[in-house]
Amino acid sequence: MQKPVHVGIIMDGNGRWAKQRGLVRTQGHLEGLAAAKRIVKAASDIGIKYLTLYVFSTENWKRTAEEVGFIMGLIKQYLRAEFDFSKKNKIRVRHAGDITALPKDIQKEIIDTIKDTADFEGLQVVLAINYGGRDEIIRAVRKFAAANGDMEKISEKDICAYLDNPDIPDPDLIIRSAGEYRTSNFLLWEGAYSEFYISKKFWPDWDKEDLEAAVEDFMTRDRRFGSVANQE
Ligand code: FPP
Repeated sequence: MQKPVHVGIIMDGNGRWAKQRGLVRTQGHLEGLAAAKRIVKAASDIGIKYLTLYVFSTENWKRTAEEVGFIMGLIKQYLRAEFDFSKKNKIRVRHAGDITALPKDIQKEIIDTIKDTADFEGLQVVLAINYGGRDEIIRAVRKFAAANGDMEKISEKDICAYLDNPDIPDPDLIIRSAGEYRTSNFLLWEGAYSEFYISKKFWPDWDKEDLEAAVEDFMTRDRRFGSVANQE
């Protein structure tokens, strides 16, 4: 099979990585950011077209104010510091999730980065920030209702058209680090037929070889999309 066009990653295990080393959780997130940078570079080198990173979920607000503030700070730092890298590697940055509930300064950084990288034609990195799959579906249905009024004939195609990034194909592969077997509200609609790859490794330990192993594993899968015959 071909390599995946769109890869989604649930970057899990930052806290456990830190705990294992007797460090504070925020140190795990700092190392998680370094891993995210390595994996963006690796995805670009491998020739993946879209990479969606689950940075902050709609449920992550339940964490302490200190941890939430720290992650928001990392997001800001990433968006600011990585522009030169994005420019050099032609990486286009996009966003998924409800931007309206984010702190104003983060909203501005996201909007500015999206604008500044809009013409880059390399890897597209979708940062899922204040993202929840259920929330995305609800927002899509509301947008459809506001535009069309009549809900009676709403179709799959209509919902797809109002998702956060309707032009991006569904993820072929969803990776989760740190060994948990659940979706945690990530790309619920888009991931209906995604292949899953679970790794025991905590996210801060992820490197190019780990992404390559996931891609290679994906290429051995037989995707049938509900049909019976091998489509190849
Ligand atoms: C999950 O680990 C990780 C998060 C909720 C935060 C992810 C954030 C980053 C990797 C840094 C920011 C990245 C970018 C690209 C701006 P966890 O805290 O749930 O770990 P645990 O399950 O071991 O406690």
